[in-house]
Amino acid sequence: MLGGVPRDVLLRPLTRSEVLSVMLRLTVFGAATYYSIKWVVETLDPTQKQKSQAKERSEKLMKQIGVERASLNEYETNVATHLVDPRSIKVTWRDIAGLDDVITEMQDTVILPFQKQHLFQGSRLLQPPRGVLLYGPPGCGKTLIAKATAKASGCRFINLQASTLTDKWYGESQKLTAAVFSLAVKLQPCIIFIDEIDSFLRNRSSLDHEATAMMKAQFMSLWDGLETGANTQVMVMGATNRPQDVDPAILRRMPTTFHVGLPNTAQRQQILRLILSGENLSRAVNLSELAEQTDGYSGSDLRELCREAAMYRVRDYVHMQDMRQIVQQLQLDDHDDEPEEDAQLRPVSQVDLLLGLEKMRESKLATVAAKLGEESLD
Ligand SMILES: Nc1ncnc2c1ncn2[C@@H]1O[C@H](COP(=O)(O)OP(=O)(O)O)[C@@H](O)[C@H]1O
Ligand SMILES: [Mg+2]
Repeated sequence: MLGGVPRDVLLRPLTRSEVLSVMLRLTVFGAATYYSIKWVVETLDPTQKQKSQAKERSEKLMKQIGVERASLNEYETNVATHLVDPRSIKVTWRDIAGLDDVITEMQDTVILPFQKQHLFQGSRLLQPPRGVLLYGPPGCGKTLIAKATAKASGCRFINLQASTLTDKWYGESQKLTAAVFSLAVKLQPCIIFIDEIDSFLRNRSSLDHEATAMMKAQFMSLWDGLETGANTQVMVMGATNRPQDVDPAILRRMPTTFHVGLPNTAQRQQILRLILSGENLSRAVNLSELAEQTDGYSGSDLRELCREAAMYRVRDYVHMQDMRQIVQQLQLDDHDDEPEEDAQLRPVSQVDLLLGLEKMRESKLATVAAKLGEESLD
């Protein structure tokens, strides 16, 4: 038997119907072999499960953002798993305090051209910038602003992480990099957001792995390629705590920059007011005093301080409950049916906030000491 065809059939001249039958058998045999080999290869392929999960996830996300029937290749599908549905983003401008100037500028330069496309058609000058950089110390609201921008603009938003492109299972960084841009163009208007862009596209150095260097070069050339389509609505938005570590070639491609610095006294007061807005505060709380005492604190430091302060009354409450139980156990049975006092958390006081500040100071000092220790060991 050869391919399911009896040997004697192959040794004599064949009739027309025999030729057809042999061809049919060979086709069936060939197809069966092809599918079984394909099945074996797919079963042995360790990335198979990941790929089908990626496909499922990306299809779900695409549906959520209202894109149906877009045909994506395998790499685009993988990138599409990092899509963010703007409606699922919780952060709005109202959740950001003290950064009104940055927000207004962001609305004018980024959101307006995206939203009022029809006014800007045909004009290269009025296109949204191809690259935007948010920079400044950690914990001051860069990621918050990026999220709120995505929400307000209603653009599709790809939250790109370095690991997406250097995924060892996929290996083929270059195809993934190309997919980022081709997907963004398919989904436009689209923002490609790269948080901590310094770790992603850091200064090119001789230490760079060859594949990383190639990926970066390719990323930049695809980015430049966006220029050619006058009406392409794709933008790369980066955020970094360390702009000095970002490749200068990348920085040149992000001429629109937003500095999000440490908050000044008035800004700190606004941030504190926002963070504490849902809390039960004692009348004696004086946020302006606290703002003055927190020079050098970031928004996230202030949030931590308030969290500590809010915890003191929870601890007080728990202690009080414990004490009450002990007293009850010590008392005689005839007190049992006394109604329990209506237990409630007391308001946050200025003392709580000052204690929170003290705790933050200590932990900041400890961090500085640990850093100095590390440096002296180097
Ligand atoms: N201007 C601000 N207004 C309100 N909250 C802030 C502000 N800046 C920082 N925060 C708080 O600090 C957290 C971290 O901010 P984030 O935007 O992630 O900082 P980064 O600049 O490091 O990206 C936020 O989730 C928020 O709770
Ligand atoms: Mg951040």
